[in-house]
Order: sequence, then C-alpha cells, then structure tokens
Amino acid sequence: MYNFTFYVPTRIHFGEGQISHLSELKESGSKVLMVYGGGSIKRNGIYDKAMEILKEAGLSVTELSGVEPNPRIETVRKGAEICKTEGIDMVLAIGGGSTIDCAKVVSAGAKYDGDPWDLVLDGSKIKSALPIYSVLTLSATGSEMDEFAVITDMSKNEKWGTAAECLKPKMSVLDPTYTYSVSKKQTAAGTADMMSHTFENYFSFEEGADVPKRFGEGLLMTMMKYGPIALNDPTNYDARANLMWAASHAINGLTRVGNAPGWCVHPMEHELSAFYDITHGEGLAILTPVWMEHILSDKTAPIIATYGKNVLGLTGDNDMTVAKEAIEATKKFFFETMGMPANLRAVGITEKTNFDKMAEKASKGCEGCFVPLSKDDVKEIFEAAF
Ligand code: NZQ
Ligand code: ZN
Repeated sequence: MYNFTFYVPTRIHFGEGQISHLSELKESGSKVLMVYGGGSIKRNGIYDKAMEILKEAGLSVTELSGVEPNPRIETVRKGAEICKTEGIDMVLAIGGGSTIDCAKVVSAGAKYDGDPWDLVLDGSKIKSALPIYSVLTLSATGSEMDEFAVITDMSKNEKWGTAAECLKPKMSVLDPTYTYSVSKKQTAAGTADMMSHTFENYFSFEEGADVPKRFGEGLLMTMMKYGPIALNDPTNYDARANLMWAASHAINGLTRVGNAPGWCVHPMEHELSAFYDITHGEGLAILTPVWMEHILSDKTAPIIATYGKNVLGLTGDNDMTVAKEAIEATKKFFFETMGMPANLRAVGITEKTNFDKMAEKASKGCEGCFVPLSKDDVKEIFEAAF
C-alpha cells in the first residue's frame, strides 16, 4: 500500500429533513452567495425551504442562478465578481456536481486577484477560498465531499479539473428525497459516473492495497444493485440513499488512497464534453467498456477478472475468459439494464474531425495511469466508441 494522507473535513448531514442544518452557515458570517442551476430547485421546492431556513437564521442571501451542466467559466467569473463587490462571507451550492463545482471556483476566485480561469488551469494557484457549503440534489460526482471542480470554456473547447484542499466543502446536506425528481437520463448518467470514479481508483497493479480495493468492490455492488431500482422506482428511498452515499465515497479518497495510480477514462470523457457538450456520465458509460477492451492483456486480465468475480459473481479459472465476460456484463449493465446510449453517435457526435486534437490533449492526462495511453491509443478508443 502506498503512503498517503487522508483528510476529509466535510461535515455530512445525511437523511430526510437534514436541510434544517443550513442554519449552521451562521458560523461563517452573515452574507451568503446561493448558487444554483437552471431551476430544478424551484420546481421541487428545495429553493423555498432553503430560503426560509437561511432567513430565519438571519442570513442575507445573494443569488447566482443558471449554472450550466458542464459549468462555464463565464458564470464562475460572474460569481467571483459578486463575492468581491458584495463582501460575501460564504458560498452555498444547491444542485448537482455542476453547481457545486461552479461554487467552488467562485469561492476560490473571490480570494484571487486574477482571472478565475488561472485557477482552473493550475490548482496550485488556489491558496484560499470562501467557506463552501452544499445541498446535493443529484448523486453522481461526489463534489459534495471532495477537493475537485471541473470547469469548461466552450470558446476554447477546454474542460479541465482543478483541485485544492480548501475546495472541500465545510458542510454538505445529503437528503436522498431531493433526488426523487432526477430524470431517468440523469439517474443513469449519475450511476455511471460514480461507477467510473470507483473503476478509476480500483484498477491498479498494487497488490497489497486490500482496503481500498474491497471498499471499491462494495461500492460497485451497491451502485449496480440500486442504480436500476432508482431508475424504475424513482422514489425508492433506500435506492436513492445508497446511491447518494456510495457516490460520495467513490471519490472522497477512500478507494483511492494507497492504491490508485491515476485516472484515464475521465481525461478522455472531458474532451468529449469540451467539444460536444455531452452529459459526463453518458460519455463515461460509452468509453469505459471500450477502454477495458483496449487495455485487456495477459497482464491486466487477472485484475479485470477479479472485478468480474468479486463484483459480478462470475466464476472460472481462466482469467482472460472471465475478464472478457466481465466487460460484456459491464456493457449489458450500462446499455441494457440502465438504458444508456451505447456509442458516440447516440449522443450526437456524428463526425470524427476533432478526434486527433482531442486525443492529443487527453493522452497528456493518461500517462501515469493503470495502463498508460498514448495519443494513438486514445484515438483508437474514440474510433471504437464511435
Ligand atoms: O440545472 P438544474 O435545473 O438544477 O438541473 C440539473 C441539470 O440539468 C438537473 N438536476 C439536478 N438535480 C436535480 C435535477 N433535475 C431534477 N431534480 C433534481 N433533484 O440535472 C442536470 C445535470 O446536473 P449536473 O449538475 O450537470 O450533473 P452532475 O451532478 O452529473 O455534474 C456533472 C458535472 O460534474 C463534473 C462533470 O464533468 C460535469 O461537469 N464532475 C465533477 C467532479 C468533481 N467535482 O469531483 C468529478 C466528476 O468526474 C465530474 O467530472
Ligand atoms: Zn466523473
């Protein structure tokens, strides 16, 4: 097991009605910037409830609304400017990963003299941030309990993740009932995203790291059990609750520390989103089985077979055979059980003209991962996913 430091300072209030804890924001001052997306929180009543609690607690609220899925740098700039001119004390995100990510870079941008895009390109420039709070409404990214934020500049076709310890939220409210209104498409995409985070951490050649690997297997089993239930029975509390808590642990370090060498499906997906603005989890579901097939070799087969046996319940003595069955089962789960789009054409990517540029950029993030990928490897994966 590699050396590591594990530190998760986020206070989690989990369960129905836990939004009452928003009164705790008083600990960070009196002026709140409330950040949210395109309006789902108004339709499902979370906005009204949050406002009531914040007002009762004597907090003043300024709003930044309209955060886009694949949040844009323009919105981040606007939020950082509001924080500076209005003397905002803390930022509260209410929404999915896009809203929380936007709020994180707004918080850091509020404490930075230059353009917030600098902080997206280079996380080491993030020296401090306003305290970040979140109310999660979509189980997927784990942004509610991690140090990452992913921001897009569509004018440059660039989507990059940044990270800093101070971006970990101070407190997050996880009420599974808030995800009852999430659409089938986003429920499936969210399940694929949290599975991908677990896969990215899980696949490594490190032999002595049982704790993160066995945690990862438990999370994958939970996601594959409850994803289909939530899809078909959106108000099933246990399904929504297990997905919510599994998603947070998939990326808060629990399954990564001591084990993971680096991620590679995410850098490839971020290029798809940067050029075609597709839904992150759909891109991951399309790329994951293709990537597994691409890296399958005598060296990787035992590890993919272990996933097949421990998570999917496959049996057999021949690792290569079991690994191939595991990849087929993964495809079946995403494309049949979860009903997700199975190739790039199905998400509206109808030409391959950008694949070369995208592969060039993505391969830079795939150098130190489980099986390092060259530009040509990435291009082949995009072609096969097409
Ligand atoms: O904008 P609103 O109106 O709120 O609607 C959203 C949005 O249209 C809707 N939604 C959210 N909660 C809902 C709901 N609709 C009905 N009921 C609810 N309770 O869902 C749509 C998608 O929301 P979004 O926040 O974009 O989805 P997600 O949580 O999947 O976030 C995706 C973003 O996170 C990044 C992705 O790249 C992408 O930009 N990631 C962030 C990570 C992190 N911070 O650690 C890691 C991930 O790997 C990922 O890259
Ligand atoms: Zn992801």
